[in-house]
Amino acid sequence: MRWLARLWPSPTPAVEPATSRDSQALARLHGASFHRGWGVAEFEQMLRERNTLLHRLRAGRHVIGFAVSRLAADEAEILSIAIDSKQRGRGLSRDLLHTHLGHLAGRGVRTVFLEVEENNQPARKLYQRAGFAVVGRRERYYREPGGAELNALVMRRDLS
Ligand SMILES: CC(C)(COP(=O)(O)OP(=O)(O)OC[C@H]1O[C@@H](n2cnc3c(N)ncnc32)[C@H](O)[C@@H]1OP(=O)(O)O)[C@@H](O)C(=O)NCCC(=O)NCCS
Repeated sequence: MRWLARLWPSPTPAVEPATSRDSQALARLHGASFHRGWGVAEFEQMLRERNTLLHRLRAGRHVIGFAVSRLAADEAEILSIAIDSKQRGRGLSRDLLHTHLGHLAGRGVRTVFLEVEENNQPARKLYQRAGFAVVGRRERYYREPGGAELNALVMRRDLS
């Protein structure tokens, strides 16, 4: 099938504002990426809120990633970021995060925070490369379905 992929290369993914029409795809992606998935109604709600910024990563007709933040005055918290498991490891999250941060800066945000599970190496590398630094650690912050408790790191980046 590789020759087919060469004939019709997949389109370059685009980072765009998400709309309410994306809610189902976003909930599917979130559910496949995290233990406690957010439902369609939760995404619809976030898309209605003025203090929430949600970007999708679109390849052709498919939503293959998203980033969502909540804003409060000149600070924001990245609530979630995910890439479709079949598309991971291609560096796609870098563009998504970079564009998302640019829009946060455009909305007057000066400082961005996030929490990341300590052992989540792909996410930690992504954030480190994007200029985030560890500013705190929360012991046993996440609980796995099996009962294991995992630590969270708090990261911060100033936007200039
Ligand atoms: C975190 C996530 C968004 C990264 O997306 P991605 O497009 O696959 O990221 P990249 O391909 O840019 O890889 C990020 C870095 O992690 C590294 N990486 C990828 N898989 C890895 C693994 N299994 N172990 C260690 N490092 C890994 C990559 O090499 C890259 O590092 P580099 O920039 O030094 O080369 C994606 O893995 C994901 O959706 N995970 C599930 C949801 C999640 O955990 N979100 C973060 C919540 S805080």
